[in-house]
Amino acid sequence: MSGVSMSKVDGDAVPAAEGLVVLSDVNKHFGALHVLQDIDLTIARGEVVVVIGPSGSGKSTLCRTINRLESIDSGSITIDGKPLPSEGKELARLRSDVGMVFQSFNLFAHKTVLENVVLGQVKVRKKDKDEAEQRARELLDRVGVGSQCDKYPAQLSGGQQQRVAIARALAMEPKVILFDEPTSALDPEMINEVLEVMQQLARDGMTMVVVTHEMGFARSAANRVVFMADGRIVEEATPDEFFSNPRSDRAKDFLSKILHH
Ligand SMILES: Nc1ncnc2c1ncn2[C@@H]1O[C@H](COP(=O)(O)OP(=O)(O)O)[C@@H](O)[C@H]1O
Ligand SMILES: [Mg+2]
Repeated sequence: MSGVSMSKVDGDAVPAAEGLVVLSDVNKHFGALHVLQDIDLTIARGEVVVVIGPSGSGKSTLCRTINRLESIDSGSITIDGKPLPSEGKELARLRSDVGMVFQSFNLFAHKTVLENVVLGQVKVRKKDKDEAEQRARELLDRVGVGSQCDKYPAQLSGGQQQRVAIARALAMEPKVILFDEPTSALDPEMINEVLEVMQQLARDGMTMVVVTHEMGFARSAANRVVFMADGRIVEEATPDEFFSNPRSDRAKDFLSKILHH
């Protein structure tokens, strides 16, 4: 666990009517496994939602349904009031509205850092190359790797690569960014540099869904904690409420395991 001490984003509860991402009664199966069960979740514009829960509880699948890397069996998901498209150009646009940062950095190995951040802007957002490069340099500076532009991903540390991945997501000007355990593959000394970039994004008002075991981050940056177990949302609360007074036995048990190891 890392102790990033930063101030909380202003404004805790935002009315559901302002939901940017809305999941209603979402169900999904993998064969016999009911991996998402009756999921109702509304994420307001500018809100930071941390999703925690035991391994296998469906956190990654939840993220993947939001940018339609996975389809759902029933229910609905809307982004900015529009249902998720299932294919074609609309889907490509959706994918650029919903940024995703994974545990493994997923940068293009044979492209430079700069090219990694330029590519989507030109191909999907149809920006011209000079404009995209200028924007890429600004973003790489913002995440603290501006001096690494001409290197290849393998020449960077894990923490630097993950910050490039964040810059690449930002370059698409997404409406929301999903982070799926973005620091889990990092050496401990690199975790904070990535969390600090995420903290800054949160303060800047980015809408974020963050699957993480970093409880320091959850406490300081989240507006809301969503606890999942066995494909269900078991609890939703502010970080203060959740960490000081978890209501369900599942959450109590989970917290006792991660907070005391
Ligand atoms: N593509 C898939 N096909 C079949 N089962 C899957 C697939 N992806 C995930 N699962 C299963 O779904 C459950 C939830 O997985 P996941 O969403 O990755 O959980 P978490 O991220 O909370 O650890 C697990 O039991 C996992 O094995
Ligand atoms: Mg996962």
